[in-house]
Amino acid sequence: SHSLTLTRRALLTSAAAYAGSAVLPDAGLGRTQAEPLREFRLKSAPGTARLVPEHDGETLVWNYNGAVPGPEIRVRQGERLRITVGNGLAEETTVHWHGIRTPNGMDGVPHLTQPPIAPGETFVYEFDAVDAGTFWYHPHQRSFEQVGRGLYGPLIIEEPEPLRVDRDVTWVLDDWRLTRSAGISDDFGNGHDMMHNGRVGNTVTINGVVPDDFAVRKGERIRLRLINAANARIFGLDFAGHEPVVVALDGQPVAPHAPTEGLVVVGPAMRVDLVVDMTGGAGSRVSVVDRFYKGLDYRLVDLAYADEPLRDHSPGWPIELPANPLPDPDVGEATRHEITFNGGMMGQMVMAEMGGAMGGSSRETMDSMMNMNHGDGMWFINGRAATGHVMDPMLTLEQGRSHVLAMTNATAWHHPIHLHGHSFRVVSRNGQPTANREWQDTVLMAPREKVEIAFVADNPGDWMFHCHILEHQAAGMMGVIRVG
Ligand code: C2O
Ligand code: CU
Repeated sequence: SHSLTLTRRALLTSAAAYAGSAVLPDAGLGRTQAEPLREFRLKSAPGTARLVPEHDGETLVWNYNGAVPGPEIRVRQGERLRITVGNGLAEETTVHWHGIRTPNGMDGVPHLTQPPIAPGETFVYEFDAVDAGTFWYHPHQRSFEQVGRGLYGPLIIEEPEPLRVDRDVTWVLDDWRLTRSAGISDDFGNGHDMMHNGRVGNTVTINGVVPDDFAVRKGERIRLRLINAANARIFGLDFAGHEPVVVALDGQPVAPHAPTEGLVVVGPAMRVDLVVDMTGGAGSRVSVVDRFYKGLDYRLVDLAYADEPLRDHSPGWPIELPANPLPDPDVGEATRHEITFNGGMMGQMVMAEMGGAMGGSSRETMDSMMNMNHGDGMWFINGRAATGHVMDPMLTLEQGRSHVLAMTNATAWHHPIHLHGHSFRVVSRNGQPTANREWQDTVLMAPREKVEIAFVADNPGDWMFHCHILEHQAAGMMGVIRVG
């Protein structure tokens, strides 16, 4: 496996080679036959969007193909995607296919898996749709601003035989920090956001618009694919009287179950597939409310029932999804790696003390401190804060073996922790085995929580490992894990 330990130069060369060639090196993901090739084009550029319909003005955004979200890329499992990305922005960009197990050179991480796409340039991504499920795409270059301004889109890979439902619906959730005139607040990457819970906004959109009603019919069954494209907001959705069933997490099927404590929790970058039976009364209205942040309930959307029911009872169709071809880790034989997350502000007390000691309001004081420290990093993985272009691995995993990452969140904040190139099983939380051993690519860790994840390191290359609160990532909470 040592021969697979590539230098940065070799990676850049191979990324360039991938782009120009239809024949990809086998990433060890079991590609066996030539599949239909599906071609797509994406172009990132500045544009406008009508995020808030009752507001007169449009919002200046950055988007793909003129829309927020970008076009839904939808293919069948086993098909091959070729996506030509053009860059119409005034700065470099890339596209990362979040949750998709691509070969390393197609992963879209600038300076690590490919050179960034310069303004006016294009890059061709090509990979197989190995796993069915709900995924998404977004830039990996200054993502706290590029994603925050509207660059993202859904990527759906259908099962060979999709679940039987009345409607298959995708909701891409985002959370914007808008000014009174519906402009995007320009304070990207400020020290306060970076040090606390990230850029939490004031306006939530579904598929790029502040929703009014979502029309449903009694008796209808909907597969609802939730994608959280927000920089930092964690959603905890209450479907008020409905009993949504979780059938997949981060695209990967899970034993169908009710959400814990009734809230459908979707951390940044995470996806939850629900089967929701519309059991409300004909003609009624029911609000879906985000209750994640205590005391800050946010009405997301109203389910508006038509007067005519579709049917009297919910259908009895099966809701179990077929498993994806993931290698099951052997936890007993796995190599164990301890990972500790540190940093950030420890809470109001510390802030207040610092503010008092320095004779200013705590917010101003923190901002000036952050400016002084800019570039030093404010969040740490195993004592290291990575900013800028991360290259040298924090961890090297032997390829083909099972590994357990025993992670400790030693901070006072939530962190959605994402690993590229692999899906992992969440095997324990705070020492307790999980009920569903769910496959995820992004696991939400509560303050002080310990989480163990396990996976077979079967996809060679250098992979990003980071918090998906994009301000935390930019402020040091990232690293590279090498498989090889
Ligand atoms: Cu969704 Cu490293 O990203
Ligand atoms: Cu974080």
